Amino acid sequence: MSLIVSEIAAFVGAALAGTYIAWSVLERIVLVAANEHLTPFASYSSLGVAIVLVPVFALLRRNHHYLRGTRVNGCKLANVYPHRDPILGLDILRISVKALKEYKLLELWDKLLNTYNGTYWFSSTGQWMLITSEPENFKTLLSTRFEDWPMKSLRQQVSILTLGPYSIFAVNGPEWQHTRAMIRPSFVRNQIADLECTDRHVENFLARLPRDGSKFDMDKLLYHFTMDVSTDFMFGYSTSILTSPTKESLEFMTAFDYLLTTSTNRARLGWLALLKPDKKFDEYVKITQQFVDHHVSQALAQEKMERPYIFMNEIIKSGASHREVRDQLLSLILGGRDTSASTMSSLFWVLARRPDVLKKLREEIAELEGRKPTWEELKNLKYLNMVLKETLRLYAAVASNMRTAERDTVLPKGGGPDGQSPLFVPKGTDCRFTTYSLHRRKDYWGDDADEFRPERWETHRPG
Ligand SMILES: *[C@@H]1O[C@H](CO)[C@@H](O)[C@H](O)[C@H]1NC(C)=O
Repeated sequence: MSLIVSEIAAFVGAALAGTYIAWSVLERIVLVAANEHLTPFASYSSLGVAIVLVPVFALLRRNHHYLRGTRVNGCKLANVYPHRDPILGLDILRISVKALKEYKLLELWDKLLNTYNGTYWFSSTGQWMLITSEPENFKTLLSTRFEDWPMKSLRQQVSILTLGPYSIFAVNGPEWQHTRAMIRPSFVRNQIADLECTDRHVENFLARLPRDGSKFDMDKLLYHFTMDVSTDFMFGYSTSILTSPTKESLEFMTAFDYLLTTSTNRARLGWLALLKPDKKFDEYVKITQQFVDHHVSQALAQEKMERPYIFMNEIIKSGASHREVRDQLLSLILGGRDTSASTMSSLFWVLARRPDVLKKLREEIAELEGRKPTWEELKNLKYLNMVLKETLRLYAAVASNMRTAERDTVLPKGGGPDGQSPLFVPKGTDCRFTTYSLHRRKDYWGDDADEFRPERWETHRPG
């Protein structure tokens, strides 16, 4: 009932504001053109007031659209963050920046998602945005209503800036289908299991660990290791950062890392970025592109391609253009490298704190009696697999992501104070979905959701 009342109020408000604006503008035009008044009450019209009313009109109209969509689709209104500054949302921006500096942004989002029952609206520097941790909504965004939720706005800009416009992380619709079809066969054929290639780099990695018990930065070494593996896998040429990097390899890695860490902030500036040129950024984009271009040109010049499973060769064979190949390679280095390094880094962080887990893991691996496992054996190391799954659960490398509603649409959850009713989402809405929170939901994982407990995977079957 109250929904209809608010809807009518918003409609009447928008109609009144719109009429007043139109009337004032017409009065003005007629006065200038014919030096006459349009209506007898002309003295009450005012262009100044009309201009002030424009944003009010826009706001009421949008509000009416949301309320009406909610009613027509049998939805309920979602919770709204209780802003002290509902116009620009600077209050939530302030606590977010503070949390980000303390490396606690994901924890803050998680806390708020729990408070507002899994889904809520907030103002992101003036734009209303949704955030959710509901499993049903994830499924809708990424599968059942995939077409309604393309990658747009910030999410797309970041990818275009760093990886290029053809990147699988930047395209939508038919272009996405096309790119996916291009990459897919290489994944299948390689079975992502070129163990020999990985093994060479594992040896290099182990050789870099100090034997005298001194402290070292494992995170850094893991990022070097995965850069070496992924370039080897992609180009058939490794950057060899761990052993004997060339100047170009080091430059490439430095540039790539800089782009990844700064691109989000750069994309956030939007068109303002034009006012704040970043020479280093532009130069580093060139460096990464040149590095990849060099290898693509070499491969193209080759008569026959020697090593059978080189990702780049597979993509080239699919007939993609040089630029497409480049953008895909950069994307896959990002996709294959940072995710593995980050996951392993989290894994060792946990193992350092959990001697019980480490002991069990060692016992299982001891069954191999020092042999290197085959692909089959690797898959059958049950405890290792559970430990990896548990690491991916608590420390998902892509902890949060975003999509934008291409049209008016409905999410299955998030409506009503308890967040359990369907939610109407107007076209143009950005929706953030956080895997970090999804993977910590107590209603789904149990009261020990925050705890690292590999044994939960003995019974748990991901749905
Ligand atoms: C969340 O849901 C519970 C009932 O399930 C309700 O009591 C509480 O008020 C809701 N929280 C908010 C912020 O609406």
